[in-house]
Amino acid sequence: MKNIVPHQFSVTKEERNASKGHKSFLLWFTGLSGSGKSTIANAVEKALFDKGLHTYVLDGDNIRGGLNNNLSFSPEDRTENIRRIAEVANLMIDAGLIVLAAFVSPYARDRENIKQTVGYKNYIEVFVNTPIEECERRDVKGLYAKARSGEIKNFTGVDAPYEAPAVPDIQIDTMKISVEESVTLILNTIEKKLTLPNE
Ligand code: ADX
Repeated sequence: MKNIVPHQFSVTKEERNASKGHKSFLLWFTGLSGSGKSTIANAVEKALFDKGLHTYVLDGDNIRGGLNNNLSFSPEDRTENIRRIAEVANLMIDAGLIVLAAFVSPYARDRENIKQTVGYKNYIEVFVNTPIEECERRDVKGLYAKARSGEIKNFTGVDAPYEAPAVPDIQIDTMKISVEESVTLILNTIEKKLTLPNE
């Protein structure tokens, strides 16, 4: 960063974590449109919030409608979408929040870059693994029908790729487990991450 010299702020991330009483990190939900990412992220946030933890959800509704409303679904714009979200998540982690991000994020390389941005230890990848046939059968937003008819181009799973994570931290098979069971699975996995080192 040429000619940019960061100011040393007095309140550190560690102090913010200590004052909130828990660590901050990113839970990243990836999967096809309609796989259930936002539903599960929302349920996990509710469970964490009810425990008194400090959380925030980032998803298409609050990001693509605002910060990223100038981006399309071309490969380049999806990469830029994910890059900005990773930077926002990084700031929120620094602010002491548990961030839950639900985005299709179809490219493995883009997901790898998120790890670099927020730091490996702060990134937990949740693959919401719902087969395309099931997402299409649900078609909650009616977008698969539009993609099949050609009204929408470059739709993930129809005429744009989805690169499934090879080794996600958590994998959720929504054909087999309920939203409640998914929440329990995720909470059990992140339990150790919630407490501060000296607790
Ligand atoms: S990403 O690929 O850049 O990560 P993102 O998660 O922000 O995608 O947005 C995906 C959501 O936008 C989908 O759930 C769907 O509702 C909508 N959408 C609209 N057009 C497309 C498209 N061409 N491909 C995938 N999702 C689309």
